[in-house]
Amino acid sequence: MTVKIFRHFSEIATLENAYKKDGRKLSPSDLGLIKDASIVYNHDEIIWVGPDSQLPEDYQHMDFIDASGKTCVPEIVDSHTHVVFGGDRAHEYSMRLNGATYEEIAKAGGGILNSMKGTNALSRSELLKLAQQRIKNIRSYGVGTIEVKSGYGLNFEKEYEISRIIHDLKNIVRPDVQIINTFMAAHAVPKDYSSSYEYMKDVVLPLLDKLGEEQILDCVDIFHEQNYFSEEDVISLFERAKRWNIPVKMHADEFNDNKGAILATKYQALSADHLLATGADGIEALKNSNTVATLLPGTGLFLGKNQANGRAFLDAGVKVAIASDYNPGSCHCDNLVMIASLAAPIYKMNMAELWCAITFNAACAVGLKNQGALIPGLRPRFSVFNTDSIDRITYNWGKNLAI
Ligand code: NIG
Ligand code: FE
Repeated sequence: MTVKIFRHFSEIATLENAYKKDGRKLSPSDLGLIKDASIVYNHDEIIWVGPDSQLPEDYQHMDFIDASGKTCVPEIVDSHTHVVFGGDRAHEYSMRLNGATYEEIAKAGGGILNSMKGTNALSRSELLKLAQQRIKNIRSYGVGTIEVKSGYGLNFEKEYEISRIIHDLKNIVRPDVQIINTFMAAHAVPKDYSSSYEYMKDVVLPLLDKLGEEQILDCVDIFHEQNYFSEEDVISLFERAKRWNIPVKMHADEFNDNKGAILATKYQALSADHLLATGADGIEALKNSNTVATLLPGTGLFLGKNQANGRAFLDAGVKVAIASDYNPGSCHCDNLVMIASLAAPIYKMNMAELWCAITFNAACAVGLKNQGALIPGLRPRFSVFNTDSIDRITYNWGKNLAI
């Protein structure tokens, strides 16, 4: 198998210790910074990482790519996006700035149901083309793995189409980009259903069975929130997902402390996301689980809400990830690296916590355990930036230094 070598990276952050500590309770040195560093790998795995001065003799005389002046980190993973949608909600954004709340906008026919109309107005190929361009944009910031949720079709046929579009995208963009296909037909209840229960029964559960049969889903997700989906809905969905052996995730405790984080851990969810309103009992449950707490600071910022108490999760020893939540409504920003730059001071994260939150912990949040650190034996997925220090990547917030 062909061996590839990069030599003379100004810096490589291996996150080796962060990986060994399972992404919890990290101190700054867990970043594992190596200067003038080299990495040797083949198609399947990393073979060697270390200071160039210690490069094993066998590799010293082989062809290599000169990475001088560049910085290498484990691959950045955006573990929460909603990139398949039609239309936009720029007008709602201005309404919000002019005083309306997210909930008020939703009640007035805006919100997710507005994007449902925009999505249903587009053909399969139009949706695919738009999503492909969005994935390309996300990739341009150095993000190599992208989780993509369905959930703006909100009827059986369109949701089926969207899950198939995500599956097609997966094949179109690999191996450069790795797509995780998440089924989220339980995103909002369309007006033609009298209750979330009816919608679950008629659309979500039968469609999960169909897609389960086709074996194209990587994860199942649900918006557990007042006026959206109840605890009973979550249980019915998660029990069905279990039948198909598909891991689950949850939009939890965003507006209210509905004990979503606790429920997520009961189902060994890969992640519980948002968590703005999670109480001490939710943090306790997460700490004793492998469920990743995925914080979405772009959404809090864009909606003008409070932020999750990131430090409380980190101090308790919860695995914390940061994702963009890129979507047409609550966070129309596709640049995870910039969001992470802003998040670190908000949550008072150290450098290891920051980088682990968008690499290893984010990979765990989509079920990938064999990447996220630069250690021999792990998959050779990494991101490269055109700058000579890791500090400069997030210091230059909003400036794209990715290669
Ligand atoms: O994660 N919370 C639910 N879903 C999205 C919002 C989607 C929308 O507003 O269109 C989120 O923030
Ligand atoms: Fe979301």
